[in-house]
Amino acid sequence: MVDEHRHEPGNLLVVLLDLQQRLGHLDPALVPVVAHELNLSRAEVHGVITFYRDLRTTPPAPVRVRLCRAEACASVGAEALVSDVGERLGARLGGTTPDGQVSLEEVFCLGNCALGPSGQVDGRVHGRLDADRVLDLVARARP
Ligand code: FES
Repeated sequence: MVDEHRHEPGNLLVVLLDLQQRLGHLDPALVPVVAHELNLSRAEVHGVITFYRDLRTTPPAPVRVRLCRAEACASVGAEALVSDVGERLGARLGGTTPDGQVSLEEVFCLGNCALGPSGQVDGRVHGRLDADRVLDLVARARP
């Protein structure tokens, strides 16, 4: 798999995204393997993994909620939405619900700025969200 991207510019991020897509998350045991294959230091690989919010080292929760906190959504109530949803789910940003079934994440623009506050539940983008709607979408998406 690394060979497919070995000579591409910015190949480290491409390799990490590809691995995550295939494996679900980036197990820390992969860091020395990727570093060796791309002739990089472990610190370089670890640095990229911890810098990019879309890369994760633990398996994702079955239901993933991502709420936009960028400017257009912030101007129409995104911060209150994040706070309300977090409180009602019992999850902090970057964390999961107590049962580990729902993760709550921030994102900075989903390309749905005109319909903010926007968010994504299980990969689908939704606009004009309020906490009731987010919780309804979560309830439908729960396994
Ligand atoms: S600013 Fe929220 S979708 Fe663009």
